[in-house]
Amino acid sequence: MSNRRSFIKKTSIGAVGTILTSKVNATNLNKKNKNSMSGIPIVISTWKHGFSANEKAYTLINNGSDAIDAVEEGVKITEADPNCTSVGYGGWPDRDGNVTLDACIMDHTGNCGSVSFLQNIKHPISVARKVMYKTPHVMLSGEGAFKFAIKNGFHKEDLLTEKAKKRWKEWLKDSKYEPIINIENHDTIGLLAIDKKGNISGACTTSGLAWKMHGRVGDSPIIGAGMFVDNEIGGCCATGVGEAVMKTLGSFLIVELMRQGASPQEACEEGVSRIVKNQNYKEMQIGYLALNKKGEHGAYAVQPGFDYALYQNGINKMIDAESFVK
Ligand code: GLY
Repeated sequence: MSNRRSFIKKTSIGAVGTILTSKVNATNLNKKNKNSMSGIPIVISTWKHGFSANEKAYTLINNGSDAIDAVEEGVKITEADPNCTSVGYGGWPDRDGNVTLDACIMDHTGNCGSVSFLQNIKHPISVARKVMYKTPHVMLSGEGAFKFAIKNGFHKEDLLTEKAKKRWKEWLKDSKYEPIINIENHDTIGLLAIDKKGNISGACTTSGLAWKMHGRVGDSPIIGAGMFVDNEIGGCCATGVGEAVMKTLGSFLIVELMRQGASPQEACEEGVSRIVKNQNYKEMQIGYLALNKKGEHGAYAVQPGFDYALYQNGINKMIDAESFVK
């Protein structure tokens, strides 16, 4: 039985619950995965800033690095970029003027690490990796994560750039909390890579929603929400309003759908359908990227405007994702 047929059979007999929950996905189940291409190694990441992150990650992989090194070094490019106002240094602050960072990383063995509500450290992804390898834990948060970082050789830095401070002061005049779709306030970088050995890893890092409440943590450091990989199946990463992703544990869901035979594209569409079914999706953007172990990828968003960078067969390019709202 083909993977696709087995996926339908499992859903219809209810062994894994009703997986196909919307008309759009029932239709799309019959659609061939048009993004299917062979070609490993492969690197895929969210948004335009993913392009330069991909360059770094793919170069490393091409030179023989493991995917876990490539995903960390790839997203560090974005974390260090002061012009990226939603990740790391230069990120827009919370409503009290603090830049607080969330990140997670996962390797092909299922090992993972994350940090949440971390301040004054430029590379939260590298702290997350240290949590993964040097502690018995998965997540460190806030002051504890900061102290752990300092103890492990990271330096305290002011991450609020003059540009971000100016924008925050403008925001304070009205203090309206209205995340604007696709506008620089939730553009997490999620990056997935398969190396020459065929192993997959993923990384996800963000300064979170601009003007959030102090202490708010989003989906990005939550393994299975902002990112998840399983070396038998593939991986997924998310961007957008983290609360919606957390409520559906989106990345884990999408990897599990692929396990049951869905293509990466079908799985991403179903992930979005779970959100639009129960949440007020009209005012928010969420985008998913998924990659399977064959090197096939999928992408889908709630709203138009989500794009991603794909580096495969030696070519790095930007692609516009399809969306639920047309
Ligand atoms: N997806 C990033 C956040 O909501 O914080």
